[in-house]
Amino acid sequence: MSNENNNSDLLVKMTNIHKWFGRVYAVRGVDFQVRQGETVGLLGDNGAGKSTLIKILCGYHQAEKGDIIFEGKKVRINSPREAQKLGIETVYQDQALAPNLSIARNVFMGREPVKGMGMLDKKLMDEESMKALSNLGLRLDSPDLPVITLSGGGRQGVAIARALHFKAKLVILDEPTVALSVKEVGEVLEFIKQLRKEGISVVFISHNIYHAFSIAERFVVMARGKVMREVTKEEVTLDKLNELVIESAIVDID
Ligand SMILES: Nc1ncnc2c1ncn2[C@@H]1O[C@H](COP(=O)(O)OP(=O)(O)OP(=O)(O)O)[C@@H](O)[C@H]1O
Ligand SMILES: [Mg+2]
Repeated sequence: MSNENNNSDLLVKMTNIHKWFGRVYAVRGVDFQVRQGETVGLLGDNGAGKSTLIKILCGYHQAEKGDIIFEGKKVRINSPREAQKLGIETVYQDQALAPNLSIARNVFMGREPVKGMGMLDKKLMDEESMKALSNLGLRLDSPDLPVITLSGGGRQGVAIARALHFKAKLVILDEPTVALSVKEVGEVLEFIKQLRKEGISVVFISHNIYHAFSIAERFVVMARGKVMREVTKEEVTLDKLNELVIESAIVDID
């Protein structure tokens, strides 16, 4: 297959991942991989297991079974903090931003630089947050503006700038375009393209196949806790991909 290269350019390799929530068998032996610099669209119907799979990768859930290899080494990711240390950043649709804090504080949230005597280094935060945002092509008037004053697209920009500043190797976006206006969706998709230009790997989860198709190079389709299809962009058209997603959701393989 065209997408079966050797493993040397793999950033993440998840193998045989299983996850139960009580009696709900949410992820059923999934293999999932992301290459260096690759943008993967993770698709599938409601309840397919997409968020659960990526929450295992970002340390929010632990799998009952399965292995994660990151940059060639087997890792255990026990918390979101451990995932961040590896270089895995996550952007959610209901973003965990602090709306009344400044843009700069939100970029650095939980990882603020300090000067002597434990004082926050505001100048550094201001400069670095504006730099990360302008690298995304987002020009905001001031790092002091509270995040609540930004558009939905601007807020996603702040979350993505955070990943950029902390030199993420992998950015996972779970439904980042939900509830945004058409213009804002365009902005967010541009931010994601920018991550790719920086060589950062991206996993983009969406119900919107148009959004996924416009940015991803490869697509993984899940249904009922399993991976049903994997295709590269060259192998499909938008219509064909749409068909695959619908077909995966209705075909009963058990
Ligand atoms: N914290 C949880 N506790 C119990 N069950 C859960 C939990 N999180 C997810 N589930 C269940 O696991 C299954 C997979 O859910 P998941 O959220 O991973 O799907 P998804 O593909 O992200 O769906 P959506 O597209 O709706 O976001 C579902 O049956 C869901 O109800
Ligand atoms: Mg989900």
